[in-house]
Amino acid sequence: MKVAKDQIVAMIKEMAISMAENKIFLTELDSAIGDGDHGINMDRGFRKVLERLPTVVDKDIGSIFKNVGMSLISAVGGAAGPLYGTYFMEFGKVAEGKEELSNGDFKMMLAAGLEGIKRRGKAVVGEKTMVDALEPAAEAFAVAAAEDKAPLACFQAAVAAAKKGKEATIPMLAKKGRAHYLGERSIGHQDPGATSSELVLRSMLKVLES
Ligand SMILES: Nc1ncnc2c1ncn2[C@@H]1O[C@H](COP(=O)(O)OP(=O)(O)OP(=O)(O)O)[C@@H](O)[C@H]1O
Ligand SMILES: [Mg+2]
Repeated sequence: MKVAKDQIVAMIKEMAISMAENKIFLTELDSAIGDGDHGINMDRGFRKVLERLPTVVDKDIGSIFKNVGMSLISAVGGAAGPLYGTYFMEFGKVAEGKEELSNGDFKMMLAAGLEGIKRRGKAVVGEKTMVDALEPAAEAFAVAAAEDKAPLACFQAAVAAAKKGKEATIPMLAKKGRAHYLGERSIGHQDPGATSSELVLRSMLKVLES
């Protein structure tokens, strides 16, 4: 079973809706352990994504995702813009020239996106960042795909793993980004980036469920 381009475009629109809906929530999380701009950053970035989307919808899925990445990099300063920008640019490389995506494509995209973020941000699991949601999600997707499950079931597994990974950031001591300056005081708060990462994957799932 393959996922068609119009569903990919719908996924990106869902991400923008989700970031707008969770703007205040993400900003509150970032106020506790950062500088209180994560929701504002993500919403601003995805507004730019939506603004530019009509210029690429007729192109291949790779070009569409590369445009998402470039829009986020251009519109969002700070840590999250370039990191998510890299994530979607890597999606775009895997999806280059494609008009539909298979489970194998999604599996490679989630792995390549994660590697891009880790390369750029130098974070590993356990440091209270978006990697804590994205790595278990990529792994869970790969396991489900190896069992020949449909994309819907693979994304369900990935989102469940991202949710668990996000929740696991609460007791962690931050080792990256602004939150790490807080030291022990970063403990007891959910990481904003891990939270938005779950939302990104959940937006993709939502389209497959509809
Ligand atoms: N080196 C890193 N690798 C992966 N993710 C990171 C890294 N640094 C920060 N993050 C993620 O970015 C989120 C903060 O994003 P935000 O949009 O608030 O940018 P920012 O204010 O510039 O970030 P920060 O204050 O963490 O430097 C964090 O919750 C964390 O998940
Ligand atoms: Mg911030």
